[in-house]
Formats: sequence, C-alpha cells, structure tokens
Amino acid sequence: MQRILVTGGAGFIGSNFIQYMINTYKEVEIVNLDKLTYAGNLNNLRSVERDDRYSFFQGDIADRQLVNEILCCKKFDTIVNFAAETHVDRSINRPDDFLKTDIFGTFALLEAARQSDIKRYLQISTDEVYGSISEGSFSEDSSLTPSSPYSASKGGGDLLCLAYYKTYGLPTIITRAANNYGPFQYPEKIVPLFITNALEDQPLPLYGDGSQVREWLHVEDHCRALDAVLQNGRPGEIYNIGGYCEEKNRVIAETIVDLLKKPRELITYVDDRPGHDVRYSIDSGKVKSLGWQPQISLEEGLSKTVAWYKKNRKWWQEIKNTEYKNYYKTQYGRRLAHAKA
Ligand code: NAD
Ligand code: DAU
Repeated sequence: MQRILVTGGAGFIGSNFIQYMINTYKEVEIVNLDKLTYAGNLNNLRSVERDDRYSFFQGDIADRQLVNEILCCKKFDTIVNFAAETHVDRSINRPDDFLKTDIFGTFALLEAARQSDIKRYLQISTDEVYGSISEGSFSEDSSLTPSSPYSASKGGGDLLCLAYYKTYGLPTIITRAANNYGPFQYPEKIVPLFITNALEDQPLPLYGDGSQVREWLHVEDHCRALDAVLQNGRPGEIYNIGGYCEEKNRVIAETIVDLLKKPRELITYVDDRPGHDVRYSIDSGKVKSLGWQPQISLEEGLSKTVAWYKKNRKWWQEIKNTEYKNYYKTQYGRRLAHAKA
C-alpha cells in the first residue's frame, strides 16, 4: 500500500487528483490535509469520501506543529502539495495569505518532510513563475520573472524546494503546469466564471482587449501527468506540464457563449488586470519523455466542461451564494459599471 499525504485536496486540482488516484490504483491510501479556505470544498470529494483508503484532516500547512505531528504519526511515502492561495486577482487585492501559505506553508511542509523518511515530495507549481513570453516557450531552465504577488510567492516555494533537495537531499520534484480547466473549478477563474455567468445571462467581464494568450490543460490530463512524474520523475528536477493548446481569452469567451447558444453581446470588455501577463507558453518535452501526453483537445475539453457546469448547477450556485458575492462585487462592480460594450 502506498500512503500519500495530499495537501489542498479539497480544491479544484487536488480533488480531481484524489479521485483519479483512488479510481486508478487499488493499493493507494490518501490523507487529505486542507484548511478549507473559501476555495476548499468537501462537496468536490463526495465520490470518494466513504472509501476506506481516503481520509480528511482539516488544518493549515503553515501550522508547523500540526504538520510535524501528522508526518510523525503516520508514515507517508509521498507528499503532494497542492495547497496554495491561487487566484491572481485576489493576490493583487491582498497578497498577505499568498506569502503565508505559498511560501511559509511550503517551508513548514519541507521542514516536517526533512524529519521523516518520505520517498517523494511533489510541489505543484505553475507556469506563471516564468512570467510572460512574446515568442517561443519557456523551458524548465528559464529564469523566474513573476509578475503578480501570486506568481512571486509560488516562485518562492519552488526555490525552497530546490534548496531542500540540494542542501538536505530531500527528494523534491517540482511540476509547473499551464492553465487548468475542468470540473470542480471555483468560479473565480475565467472558464468557470464565464460559463456560469453565461448560464445566468450575466456579463462575461473580459479584461483589456481580450488578446492575452494562455496555454490550456484539461485537469484530467494534468492528473495523468502528475502520476507519470510520481512514477518516473527524478528528484531535484522540474517538469513543465502544458496542454499544447494556446488560445486568446477572447476566443475562449466566444467559444463558451457559442457552446451555450447565448448572445456574444454578453462578452463585456472591462478594465485590465494590473501587471497582466500577455502570453504563457511552456515547452513540455521533458514530461513527455516520461511517457505522458495530453489526451483532451481544447475543443473537446471546453465542451465537456460546459456540459459539467450545466449539469451541476447546485454545486456552483451554492458557492456563488457565499463570500463569492462580496468578492464579485469588489472585483467587478466598478469595472462593469464603466464597461465598454
Ligand atoms: P484552489 O484554489 O482550487 O484550491 C486550493 C486548495 O488549497 C483549497 O482546497 C484550499 O482550502 C487549500 N488551502 C489553501 N491554503 C491552505 C493552507 N494554508 N493549508 C491547507 N490548505 C490550504 O487551487 P487549484 O486551482 O486546485 O490549484 C492547486 C495547485 O495547483 C496550487 O498550488 C496552484 O498554484 C497550482 N496550479 C494551479 C493551476 C490552475 O490553473 N488552477 C495551474 C498550475 C498550477
Ligand atoms: O497559468 C497557470 C495559472 O493559471 C495558475 O497558476 C493559477 O492558479 C490560475 O489561477 C491561472 O492563472 P490566470 O491568471 O492565468 O487565470 P485566470 O482564470 O484568473 O485568468 C485567465 C486569463 O483570463 C487571464 O489572462 C486573465 C483573463 N480574465 C480572467 C478573469 C478572472 C479575464 O479576462 N476576465 C476575468 O474575469
């Protein structure tokens, strides 16, 4: 039996990963440590919550005593750290928790891991640490030029992981994934925000001129890549995970309204994000050499995702009735009032 500590497993990617691992492997036991911030949602894990191989523990990765106790009491083979503050706009409004969780929380986990004899520590990071690139793609050796407090704090966590490998020999591996989309994504990120707003005939607030480009990766392809890295990745290494499909935000917005047969007039151009990165693009050749490749095209993935949000209204409507309301008003109220149609 392989025992894995997953942190941040009640969020979007973490919950998809737990479901993937439990459904793919019989001999796996997962403990999910999650603080349940606004983004953590136990409804994401209903399909596995009764499985004997899964258990949940509410707590903060930055709580050193707690993390030490968890790692002392149970012997884990692997730690997969998804826990983070993850939304760029929130990091621009209030960076504090980003530094606490993404840097200090990573430090607390690494320190506890150093006292245990884990075989793998996998840090789930992001292509945003490289910043924007106008042409070509970033490789794992590219320098870090983060633009937002979010990407800077994720870069800080990555550097700590590299240092713990070099100095203490802790078997850390870093993955840097592109923009994920799919089921259970909190509707603050562009894909679920635009789908759910369109379903409610609300405006789709597109920043700037909508020409920014992101590389899109379906969350199931991301989970398969993480599995490949856990099995065949080498400690001390970094692996980019991209979806091999770059697209402009404007096209993403148009595709969503078209799939839902809603009028394109819902797309509303609003004030840009400060420090907005123009284009993300990564070279994922290294993770491909581990035998992985994406299986879901952007066209298929968006269509499946739209269908999921149509079918799971209750899931996202519950979220939209919580703190989300205030967040939405702060983030978009003034922007939408001044919007250029
Ligand atoms: P998310 O915001 O949906 O979920 C984050 C989870 O972490 C939540 O369940 C939250 O409760 C938990 N959490 C936050 N602070 C915590 C703390 N101090 N202690 C314990 N738990 C805490 O995030 P996501 O989109 O699933 O992203 C997961 C990871 O993947 C993050 O590290 C993120 O940087 C990285 N990533 C995300 C994307 C993407 O497109 N979403 C792309 C590349 C990398
Ligand atoms: O690249 C990986 C990263 O992708 C992850 O590390 C982050 O956790 C994740 O949030 C995501 O960051 P982005 O900033 O790229 O994602 P977001 O969905 O916030 O925005 C995607 C693009 O859409 C970006 O160019 C900004 C634009 N956008 C976003 C929102 C929320 C809009 O035009 N309007 C919006 O309302």
